Amino acid sequence: MAATVTAPAVRAAKGDRKLTMITAYDVPTAAIAERAGIDIILVGDSVANVVLGYDTTLSVTIDDMVHHTAAVTRTVERPLVVGDMPWLSYHVSLEDSIRNAGRLVREAGAGAVKLEGGRKRIPVIEAVLNAEIPVMGHLGLTPQSVHAMGGYKVQGRQEAVARELLQDAKALDAAGVFAIVLEGVPDVLAGMITENVTVPTIGIGAGAVTDGQVLVFHDALGLHTGHYPKFVRRYANLFDDAVNALEQYCEDVRAGTFPGPEETYTMPEDSAEALQGDQPSGE
Ligand code: KIV
Repeated sequence: MAATVTAPAVRAAKGDRKLTMITAYDVPTAAIAERAGIDIILVGDSVANVVLGYDTTLSVTIDDMVHHTAAVTRTVERPLVVGDMPWLSYHVSLEDSIRNAGRLVREAGAGAVKLEGGRKRIPVIEAVLNAEIPVMGHLGLTPQSVHAMGGYKVQGRQEAVARELLQDAKALDAAGVFAIVLEGVPDVLAGMITENVTVPTIGIGAGAVTDGQVLVFHDALGLHTGHYPKFVRRYANLFDDAVNALEQYCEDVRAGTFPGPEETYTMPEDSAEALQGDQPSGE
């Protein structure tokens, strides 16, 4: 078994190798990610959309995130597990933010937390870091800001906004985050940020220039019938495969071919005969 991935190890990987990150939310998704050799599992608040059936990530609570993060940490040994801090779990007060980040570590076993936002989040980031909890930043198209952004829109296409995002990234780096997710930004900007920060950038919809990549599990494996953003590469079509498998199961049950002899328990013949001999004769 390769060594466990830690937040300092992720930070040290910059310039050395590309980092792989995927979301996971439960035992099967986490086990598949670990078996595939993924470095970092993000228990993302995207659980809201792909698992819990909500329209936005704004609906998930810190209790939801603790529940799902704990399932993941019970499953894996090697990858770094990052617990995503949901909306309003770090916006109310510094004390509340530290307690919520602490729950993801103490109750759920996460090795780090992620939170969205730039310079205005520096006090929270510093407070959580002071509690000895590694923090991953998240800039660009930050889904918890969906209403403030006016929808899910690529961020930083205009020079002025791009410059703001670059300053945000430098500020997060200086504050001590161990990595920064860059979501939904032009590749030129992602490249500039990657060159100007000392920690790894992990892109999703940010081109190939970042120090690593992250995708949502259900997007990467084709496990839903909803919208797939332009930046997703679908490595499988598990939704269709699963439907085909269950259609076959239904067909076998209806035809009486499942279960077959190999899927059926038997008893010694003499016991079976004695048992059947007890049957009322029907006279
Ligand atoms: O919640 C999530 O899945 C995320 C990734 C898209 C980075 O934050």
